[in-house]
Amino acid sequence: MTHLDPKAVFVPCVLLLWCFTLVISIAGDYEILLRVKNAQIDDPHGNLHDWVPNKDHNPCNWTGITCDPKQLAVISINLSGFGIFGGFPSGFCRIHTLQNLSLASNNINGTLSSESLSLCSHLQLLSLSNNLLVGRLPEFPPEFSQLQVLDLSLNNFSGDIPDSFGRFPALKVLTLSSNLLSGQIPAFLGNLSELTRFELAINPFKPGPLPPEIGNLTKLENLFVPTANLVGSIPESIGNLVLLKNLDLSDNDLSGRIPESIGGLRSVEQIELFGNQLSGELPESFANLSALTNLDLSLNRLTGKLPNKIAAMSIGSLNLNDNFFEGEIPESLASNPNLWELKLFNNSFSGTLPENLGQNSDLENFDVSTNKFTGELPKYLCFRKKLQNIIAFDNRFSGNLPSTLSECSSLAYVRIQNNELSGEVPVNFWGLPLLYFLQMDGNRFRGSVSPSISSARNLSTLLISGNNFSGEFPNSICRLHELVTLQVSRNQFSGDIPFCITELKKLQKLRMEENLFSGKIPSSVSSWTDLTELNLSRNQLSGEIPPGLGDLPVLNYLDISGNSITGEIPVELTKLKLNQFNLSDNKLYGKVPSGFDQDLFVSSLLGNPNLCSPDLKPIPPCQKSKRESFYALIVLSICVVLLLASSLCYFRTKSNAFGGKSKKLHKVTTFQRIGFNEEDVISSLTDENIIGSGGSGRVYRVNLKTGQTVAVKKLWEGCRKPDTESIFRSEVDTLGRIRHGNIVKLLFSCSGEECRILGFEFMENGSLGDALHDERSVSLLDWPKRFTIAVGAAQGLAYLHHDCVPAIVHRDVKSNNILLDEEFRARVADFGLAKTLQLDAEVAEGHCVMSRVAGSYGYIAPEYAYTLKVTEKSDVYSFGVVLLELITGKWPTDSSFGDNMDIVKWVTEAALSSSQVEKDGVCGFKDLDRIVDPMMNPSEWDYREIEKVMHVALLCTSAFPINRPSMRRVVELLLKDAKLSCSK
Ligand SMILES: *[C@@H]1O[C@H](CO)[C@@H](O)[C@H](O)[C@H]1NC(C)=O
Ligand SMILES: *[C@@H]1O[C@H](CO)[C@@H](O)[C@H](O)[C@H]1NC(C)=O
Repeated sequence: MTHLDPKAVFVPCVLLLWCFTLVISIAGDYEILLRVKNAQIDDPHGNLHDWVPNKDHNPCNWTGITCDPKQLAVISINLSGFGIFGGFPSGFCRIHTLQNLSLASNNINGTLSSESLSLCSHLQLLSLSNNLLVGRLPEFPPEFSQLQVLDLSLNNFSGDIPDSFGRFPALKVLTLSSNLLSGQIPAFLGNLSELTRFELAINPFKPGPLPPEIGNLTKLENLFVPTANLVGSIPESIGNLVLLKNLDLSDNDLSGRIPESIGGLRSVEQIELFGNQLSGELPESFANLSALTNLDLSLNRLTGKLPNKIAAMSIGSLNLNDNFFEGEIPESLASNPNLWELKLFNNSFSGTLPENLGQNSDLENFDVSTNKFTGELPKYLCFRKKLQNIIAFDNRFSGNLPSTLSECSSLAYVRIQNNELSGEVPVNFWGLPLLYFLQMDGNRFRGSVSPSISSARNLSTLLISGNNFSGEFPNSICRLHELVTLQVSRNQFSGDIPFCITELKKLQKLRMEENLFSGKIPSSVSSWTDLTELNLSRNQLSGEIPPGLGDLPVLNYLDISGNSITGEIPVELTKLKLNQFNLSDNKLYGKVPSGFDQDLFVSSLLGNPNLCSPDLKPIPPCQKSKRESFYALIVLSICVVLLLASSLCYFRTKSNAFGGKSKKLHKVTTFQRIGFNEEDVISSLTDENIIGSGGSGRVYRVNLKTGQTVAVKKLWEGCRKPDTESIFRSEVDTLGRIRHGNIVKLLFSCSGEECRILGFEFMENGSLGDALHDERSVSLLDWPKRFTIAVGAAQGLAYLHHDCVPAIVHRDVKSNNILLDEEFRARVADFGLAKTLQLDAEVAEGHCVMSRVAGSYGYIAPEYAYTLKVTEKSDVYSFGVVLLELITGKWPTDSSFGDNMDIVKWVTEAALSSSQVEKDGVCGFKDLDRIVDPMMNPSEWDYREIEKVMHVALLCTSAFPINRPSMRRVVELLLKDAKLSCSK
């Protein structure tokens, strides 16, 4: 027997015990992970498929798990972007060796409570960024002494930043950007003395200052607080941040001067202060910022000159746009070796640019537009062959285009319009290979366009109108297959228009007016499938109008006036849906095609002495030859016989279809290509197809033979006078030409002695009024849909008010006149007719059903009672009522409002007057839920938007028209995150 050394026993025993505890510990982690996976995590994509029991009870090889190799313990769980669902899986924190827990970019929902966090106090990193968490930020228990990274950005956390956020002794990174935090930025965050990165951007904080305590964070390298409602001035203490590399306070409301102390930011590389209200001159201390490479101060109210010292700094990107800078640009700017971007637009800089700008640095972007610069464009802009953009429009640059630019092969985008540039454009400049946008209109360039332009293969826009260019236009233009817009108007180009120009398939706009072009209009135009605008007016063109123009599917602007065009007007042209049409002052002859036989077109036809028309007054009537009259007589007699025969048959079968009287459709106008047949339509106007009935007529649903469904409105009859007919027609004509995504399209109309019908697109989801007030459909209208409808309808009305010439006042805006297509997009309907129809009503006798009041009860603006005038602002009022209807889900004259109350009074008085709270110029409503439609069940985010829409509605329904915003402004207010003050 050998004697056992006690040490020899003890050491292995201890080792064994140690191994044993390790195994126990890793086995414990394994159990915890499996339990959390099963109980707390929903993993629909199976990303945790390898988290399954194994015989070693070892999780270290599982996806997302990192173990400490020595201790055999889980130290990190990273499930970022795994698409997992469920609440915060706090069970992971039971692994007491866990240091890092990252669950970013998943669908973790619910709230984050202090209780669920209490297990996690040993963590060093916690990232829950980009999840679906809501509610207040939790107080972190004081045990979180090791936390270094806390990332809760991109969630829907709301409310204040809790006090405990000022008590993390080790925190280096705090990221709360893109939440719904609404308190002020607290001063106690200045206690986080270890912070290197601090991000609070994009939160609806209550307007407040950037706390001066920020200057205590002397280890800070990144300070990122754009779009956080910062007001007041930038604190002096900012200058203490000597390690700061990135400073971004853009898009706030900071005001006052940039503090002199900014010169203390010795390490700063990037300063973004754009979009504030900063004023005054730039501090001299800027010159100390030797590491600065990007400086963006655009969109402020800074004044003064660009200091020489700043110009001499080695800044790479300098943006000073949209300020009030004046004075000259210092020469030293050009010696800066790093400058790659120079943006000075929308200031009042004057004088000349430094001559050697671009010679010493790789300049790529150059934008000095809208200033008062004079002198020549700098020669060396493209010296390093890196220049991509030259933007210099709206200045007083003069002299030649620098010849060096013709070797600038990197150049892609040039806008130098509205200067005083002159001379010939260098031959090779036209053909720069990467050039896709060339705008130089409104200068004094002369000479010809070089055939070398064919090398500019990417060119999509060429705008050279209003210069003194001359000579023939080169055929090589036809090789530029990307060309979309070509405008060469108001020059002295002569010779033929290149015939091959019709090969440019992508061309949308071709304007060549006011030149000396001669010869014929290119005739084989069928490739121009995208062409919307063709203006060849005031040239010396001859020959006939190519009939093919009438087949172009989207041409809506055709002007060939002021030439010597001969021949008859091709009847094909009547197929076009024209906004602008001019054939005047040519040598056209023959009969005006019946499609143009309308007063609207008279001015487009004048100045063609040999045109004739049976109807149009100023144009002479057509002389019929005897032969023609003879044939016409025979044809007419046959027609009469046939007509009599057929109408006899017709009345036998349908003697009572229209109240016993014979009805003929006259003047059929089709605005869209649809298979439309009058008979089809008439025979479908039966009671069983009625889908609605209103002030102006009944609406029927009609299925055309083509399978298309249309809504046909048959206007009330019986109250009309012959001379209102032409008003009706010209108005219908306007409507037919309106193209807007939020306005119902008029497809066709017929009008005649006794019948007027209008054919519209059929709208799958009926009217907003029905959808909103019908229990069966209202559940489909959640807040986001309602908001989209509000914006859509506003855009439609804004189009009528601001983009139509003359402006169209709707006169009957109400929820029943806002239709919803299959995707619940709003389409404004029934506009413009109110006026015509009202005229009719005034002359009515007997059974006329229309009231004289323009508009519908509950939607009519108060001033109508005494002015009896309807303006755009009355539409705005009615639209405001529709907004209130969307929010409350109640009819404007709901009986629950009580005596003499309508929705506007109810909302403003009963529900809001006592609960509107104004703080720092921003208005909120305390108990909005009293009036919000309970059917919507809105989310917290929805409430913010509802609040905004409520503000807009109250503005729109203000008693005085002058206080109501324009529809265009309404659209802006709805779309912007606008801050409004309380309406009084
Ligand atoms: C982990 O995987 C590696 C390679 O896939 C393998 O060699 C190793 O044995 C595995 N370890 C455990 C504990 O399963
Ligand atoms: C979280 O999401 C799950 C599944 O998507 C859902 O069942 C649960 O109700 C949600 N919880 C909360 C609090 O919203």
